[in-house]
Amino acid sequence: MMRISDIIKMGPQNDPDDKKEKKDTPAPSLLDKAIRKSANSTIEQLYNAGIDLLKDIFNKARQGRHLDNSQIEIFILNSLDFKAVTDYINQITDRILLGDDELFNYFYNYREKENYIYEHSLNVCLLSVKIGIWMDMNKSDLVNIALGGLLHDIGLIAVEDIISLPRKLKHNEIEAVKKHSLHSANMLEKIKGVAEDVVAAVKAHHTRLGDENFTRTLTHDKLQKMAQIIGLADVYEALTHQRSYKSAKLPHEAVKELIEQESGNFQAKIIKSLVENIGIYPIGSWVRLTDGSIGFVASVNKGYPLRPKVNIMFDAKGNKFSDIKSIDLLNEPHLHIESPIDLEKNSRLIEKLKQK
Ligand SMILES: [Fe+2]
Repeated sequence: MMRISDIIKMGPQNDPDDKKEKKDTPAPSLLDKAIRKSANSTIEQLYNAGIDLLKDIFNKARQGRHLDNSQIEIFILNSLDFKAVTDYINQITDRILLGDDELFNYFYNYREKENYIYEHSLNVCLLSVKIGIWMDMNKSDLVNIALGGLLHDIGLIAVEDIISLPRKLKHNEIEAVKKHSLHSANMLEKIKGVAEDVVAAVKAHHTRLGDENFTRTLTHDKLQKMAQIIGLADVYEALTHQRSYKSAKLPHEAVKELIEQESGNFQAKIIKSLVENIGIYPIGSWVRLTDGSIGFVASVNKGYPLRPKVNIMFDAKGNKFSDIKSIDLLNEPHLHIESPIDLEKNSRLIEKLKQK
């Protein structure tokens, strides 16, 4: 399946060709056992609850996708537990507002690569809230952004048959996929309690700053901000994860690409907030320290982007610690981060992570 933002940009002439035929390799569940068992189970449960919620919503939407417009409204109203959605987004927004960044421990490694849309949606939701906080948005706007981020791609269910085709997409198929944001908005506007701005932001999550309909569809500043935040979170999330036709970029590579290729597409203040705050070693990313040990960034020390707190998982020889060893680099002047690590390219460590 292609990165949707690439399909949006794509014309029929420049489809990725042979790469489209490749299938994903079997998904290694990178963080599954070792980290998740050792991490705060409440956070793990909260992240997993989001995935379960998304699976439920997408499955219900799939059941109703062939209904006509009048029937689908009744179907959605009867089948979707919107209260569960609002409870969930309120809970995670509160957690992130309180500085609980452990939810981002799960950001960089998909557990179900074949089924990545759920983790992608939750990650976009989490990152959108975080960018909103960096942009000084208030709680009610953050909750709206969380909802938009969570369900921005729900309309993909209308074009799943097309995006799963194991071949180059034809012009009319690409055009159909481009309409998924419209499908998402059409579904959301039928749900009582979803704010108009959320519907409009979701509809425009692939609308970019230079597009001729930018100000026509995004009529006020807050709405522009919402759509752009969700859109930017979507792009960053996709850049940092593997797809069948491309490998994942490390966070600092993704930031570089955002600066080089997306600066004209997003408002400067939004892209600046992401680039400045995500840093070189964002939470959840993997690093090797100068003593050879390997771990993932657990939290960032404000003002010290090169000296985060790191949860060490492996010693210099690649032996896994039975318990996570937490190190605050601010208190370890002799120790530094040597380099970021692409864990997905290190099958030996992945296998060890999967072991109990
Ligand atoms: Fe999308």
